[in-house]
Amino acid sequence: MSHTIALQFEDGVTRFIDCAENETIASAAYRQKVNIPLDCRDGACGTCKSFCESGRYDGGEYIEEALSEDEARAGYVLSCQMRPRADCVLRIQASSSACKTAVESDQGRLTALEWLSPSTLRFSIEPQRATPLVFLPGQYAHLQIPGSELSRAYSFSSPAGRHALSFLVRNVPDGRMSAYLREQAKVGDTLSFSAPYGSFYLRELRRPLLLLAGGTGLAPFLSMLETLAGQGCPQPVLLGYGVTHDADLVCLDELEALRARLPGFEYISCVADADSTHPRRGYVTQYLDAGVLNGGDVDLYVCGPPAMVDSVRAWLGELGIQPAGFHFEKFAPSH
Ligand SMILES: Cc1cc2nc3c(=O)[nH]c(=O)nc-3n(C[C@H](O)[C@H](O)[C@H](O)COP(=O)(O)OP(=O)(O)OC[C@H]3O[C@@H](n4cnc5c(N)ncnc54)[C@H](O)[C@@H]3O)c2cc1C
Ligand code: FES
Repeated sequence: MSHTIALQFEDGVTRFIDCAENETIASAAYRQKVNIPLDCRDGACGTCKSFCESGRYDGGEYIEEALSEDEARAGYVLSCQMRPRADCVLRIQASSSACKTAVESDQGRLTALEWLSPSTLRFSIEPQRATPLVFLPGQYAHLQIPGSELSRAYSFSSPAGRHALSFLVRNVPDGRMSAYLREQAKVGDTLSFSAPYGSFYLRELRRPLLLLAGGTGLAPFLSMLETLAGQGCPQPVLLGYGVTHDADLVCLDELEALRARLPGFEYISCVADADSTHPRRGYVTQYLDAGVLNGGDVDLYVCGPPAMVDSVRAWLGELGIQPAGFHFEKFAPSH
């Protein structure tokens, strides 16, 4: 039996490898031409120490100097000894270039381009590669702006496993990628991209999930929710979705459909604009009481503009509650 192992490097690059149950991660990585840091290969030096974010495994045999009991309890592993018992996500303490691997680059054909409102559009590309791109729900791609050397980061709004990759994008009035999408893009165009990147992805489902999206920060959550609807979720999931103007509030029909397919999923939306006709005006945290943090026993995911992520942090500070899991992605503009 073989398991899929996501290797996350310090520079944000993720590579996926297959690993048989009787194979160590280090051997599987080497077989697939990923040179993760190794020295003794015998559980003695600790050079290959990594952090296992999720998944079950047999830690193997090693000496205390290489990996202490406390480290092992906290989730650290020695990749020269570890054998997976399920799909795993491993944080490798090195950059992808140091491990002589790189993120995958490809080209995709633009197959759909749809304005959901004057401020927001969705588009899909079909990569040239024959098999679906592997990524973790919540991760993102770098898409090159056609006719330039510049690229922009966009979170996948579609789940992994589909051949087409979809994105949800805000129309930034003087933005370069926005101008391409608004004025030139047409079905059939070719876009170059590299992927997957990022450490904002759905972790193991250990406790209730609170997802907070600002504007097109909804994109990675659509990918996560679709994944959860497909695989089932034993935990309650609450999405707080806040936008600036009425026109920014999109994909409500998709969220309704997800509510029907994913038991335990609820969402609330709100609009910041004081002139909005929406029943909830203001910021999403105004409409969440401390109870949603479940006394801290919650996995909180936040995605949106930097100011929104910072205001969620301030809200946590005011409530004096630190969630057991806190993951965020800031949609910071490129420089
Ligand atoms: C990890 C990551 C994931 C991202 N995922 C998404 C996504 O799924 N959907 C999405 O819509 N965006 C996403 N972004 C933002 C995206 O990468 C671009 O920054 C954004 O689309 C603007 O690109 P542009 O080329 O149109 O504008 P640019 O040419 O980069 O910017 C032009 C001008 O607009 C300003 N500006 C740029 N972005 C914003 C903004 N958001 N608000 C206000 N002013 C801005 C710039 O400072 C500049 O003055 C993500 C960013 C990161 C870092
Ligand atoms: S390489 Fe020495 S402990 Fe793994």
